[in-house]
Amino acid sequence: MTYYEKAAEKLELLRQKEKYYILAIESSCDETAAAVLEGKKVLSNIIATQIPLHRRFGGVVPEIASRNHLASVDGTVKEALDAANLTFKDIDLIAVTTGAGLLGALLVGVSYAKSLAYALEIPLISVDHIKGHISANFIENDSLSFPFICLLASGGHTAILRVNSYFDVKILGSTVDDAAGEAFDKVARVLSLPYPGGPEIQKAAKSGKAVIPLPRAFKNETHLNFSYSGLKTAVINYVHNAKARGEEINTADVAASFQKEAVGVLIDHAIEGAKREGINTIALAGGVGANSALREGLKKACLENGMTVHIPEKRLCTDNAAMIGLAAYLAVKEGAENSPLTLDANPARSV
Ligand code: KG4
Ligand code: ZN
Repeated sequence: MTYYEKAAEKLELLRQKEKYYILAIESSCDETAAAVLEGKKVLSNIIATQIPLHRRFGGVVPEIASRNHLASVDGTVKEALDAANLTFKDIDLIAVTTGAGLLGALLVGVSYAKSLAYALEIPLISVDHIKGHISANFIENDSLSFPFICLLASGGHTAILRVNSYFDVKILGSTVDDAAGEAFDKVARVLSLPYPGGPEIQKAAKSGKAVIPLPRAFKNETHLNFSYSGLKTAVINYVHNAKARGEEINTADVAASFQKEAVGVLIDHAIEGAKREGINTIALAGGVGANSALREGLKKACLENGMTVHIPEKRLCTDNAAMIGLAAYLAVKEGAENSPLTLDANPARSV
C-alpha cells in the first residue's frame, strides 16, 4: 500500500470517531506553536513566542521569524507530545496552518508537517489560519453550533462572518484597509509603546479617559465593512500636532480614546450582522479578541440584544496550535480529504 492509500484509509476510520489524537502545528507569524488534542479536548498547547526577538524592530521581521521557526519547531512539537504524555506513534492525524501568513514562516510548519505525516503514515490536514481562529470557539465548548456570526479581529484580518459550517463561511463585511490589530500596533508605535501594541494600548487605556474626539472606523448604514486607516491617521495627526505645539501627550487618554472607537465599531457591526442574518449567536475570534474592553463590550451588547455570545479564553484568541487542531477535527467531520505531499504554503489573505 502507498502512503496515500494508507492515509486515505485511516482518514475514513477517523471520520467515524469522536476521539483520536491530533498533532497540530502553527507557524504563520511570530509564534511557533504545537498542540495535541484528543478530539475536541486539548491535551497540550505549547507556544514558543518570538515576540522579544521582534520587539526591538517594532514589528515582525519575516526573515527572523522563518529562522526561529526552523530552530524551534522540532523542540516545540516534542514539548507538546511530552506534555500530553504521548509519543509520535500515538498520533492519528497531523494538522498544519498553510495560510494566511508569512510565506517563509508558513513553509517551516508545512514542510515539517508533511515529513511527519509521511514518516508516520498518517493523514495530513491543511488548515486556513482564519478557520483556526474561528474554531477556537469550539474548544471544550459543546454549546456552540452552526450557524453563527463570527466577529473576527486579528493582526491581519477584520471581518464579520456568517459561519454556516466549517467549509461554508460567508463574509458580511471586512476591512477595506488596515486590520484592527494592525491599527492597535501602529497607534502603539506612535505612542512609543512596544510591539505588539494591542496589550500595551489596553494597559495604557486603563488609567485614561476617552475624551479625545476621533472618527469611527466606518459607521455605515448599508454595509458592515471597516476602515481603520482613517482612525489610525487621526490619532497620528493628533499626536504630531500636539508635539508640534510643544504640548505633553496624555498617552492614557489617547489609548482610551482610540480603544473605545476601535472596539466600538467591531461590536456594533457584529450585532448588526446578527440582526440582519436573523442569527442569535455571536462568536469572537482573533488576537484582538483578547482585548478586555472588546470582550466586556461584546458580552454587554449581546445581553442587551438577547443574543448568546461565545468568547474563547484569551490565550486561545491569540495565535496557538490548539485552534488549528480543532479546525482539522471539524474539517474531517465535514469530509476534508487528506492533503497531498505537494501541499504548499499560501500566504494570501482568505477573508
Ligand atoms: O490573531 P493574532 O495573534 O495574530 C494574527 O493572526 O494576526 O493577532 C495579533 C494581533 C496583534 O495586532 C495584537 O496587537 C493584537 O492581536 N492583540 C490585541 C490584544 N492582544 C493582542 N489587541 C488589542 N488588545 C489586546 N489585548
Ligand atoms: Zn492569528
